[in-house]
Amino acid sequence: MSTIRIGDLVVNRLGFGAMRVCGPQVWGPPRDRKNAVAVLKRAYALGFNLMDTADSYGPHVDEELIAEALHPYPEDLVIATKGGLLRPTAAQWVPDGRPEHLRQAVDGSLRRLKLERIDLYQLHAPDPKVPFADSIGALAELQRQGKIRHLGVSNVDLAKLEEARRLAPIVSVQNAYSLVDRSSEDVLVACEKLGIAFLPWYPLGAAAALRAASVKALAVRRKVSAAQISLAWLLSRSPVMLPIPGTASLAHLEENAGAVGLELSREDLATLAD
Ligand SMILES: NC(=O)c1ccc[n+]([C@@H]2O[C@H](COP(=O)([O-])OP(=O)(O)OC[C@H]3O[C@@H](n4cnc5c(N)ncnc54)[C@H](OP(=O)(O)O)[C@@H]3O)[C@@H](O)[C@H]2O)c1
Repeated sequence: MSTIRIGDLVVNRLGFGAMRVCGPQVWGPPRDRKNAVAVLKRAYALGFNLMDTADSYGPHVDEELIAEALHPYPEDLVIATKGGLLRPTAAQWVPDGRPEHLRQAVDGSLRRLKLERIDLYQLHAPDPKVPFADSIGALAELQRQGKIRHLGVSNVDLAKLEEARRLAPIVSVQNAYSLVDRSSEDVLVACEKLGIAFLPWYPLGAAAALRAASVKALAVRRKVSAAQISLAWLLSRSPVMLPIPGTASLAHLEENAGAVGLELSREDLATLAD
């Protein structure tokens, strides 16, 4: 599998989005805990050696499951977590970017993940009620204290990315991006110029990309699955792209791993153009 750099770390170019192994609506424990643990273990075995999670998935459940499945961690496994969103109810994702909250959040993630330092900590989203500089500044201070190795941002526009970069060394951006949602194209281009990783969330458009007529047609022609086409398209899109597809299904996981090495020709790509 080809690799990508995250700060001084090197990971394979398909990461695993672990959010889907929680309960329905990313709330509470999984219905089938044994399956969730098996999916996480198999993901690493298949070469997905970056796991993306967040304290708000579950909440807390996702990080606990990762520790249950994979601790003590293999040396080449990078866990990327996030903080700065609260879940008062299953339906609510409420930003909280206050420094005091982020300090508590990082300590909570360290405890649940059984880590002394988090390899990649991403601010989940800017909080409109808190100056962005205060949120990033608090994370930069935690990095100086040794609790965070690398800092990333998520759900940012170009201006916020630039602001974050003025305040701290930022190694990655995580924004929505897929065949069916290219609204972060400008941020992707900026990441490419800067040489920092771009982690597209909803890389399968939460499965919507799999239903797109152009994707289905190409999948039939190339005799692969629609998910594999969608992931191969992302990988071909930019050298800084690090897709993090999510699934709670072992069969889908195996299928998604098969996207690595699937080369799309210029003609194939033309059928998937905007
Ligand atoms: N930063 C943010 O704000 C943010 C927001 C959302 C997500 N994320 C991160 O991004 C990751 C990826 O997002 P996501 O999991 O929501 O969306 P996704 O990867 O675009 O799609 C996942 C959906 O596609 C289905 N799926 C996966 N592989 C499939 C296959 N081979 N065939 C058919 N269906 C398939 C899954 O269902 P099955 O379980 O049935 O396979 C699930 O419903 C998350 O896990 C999370 O880590 C971040």
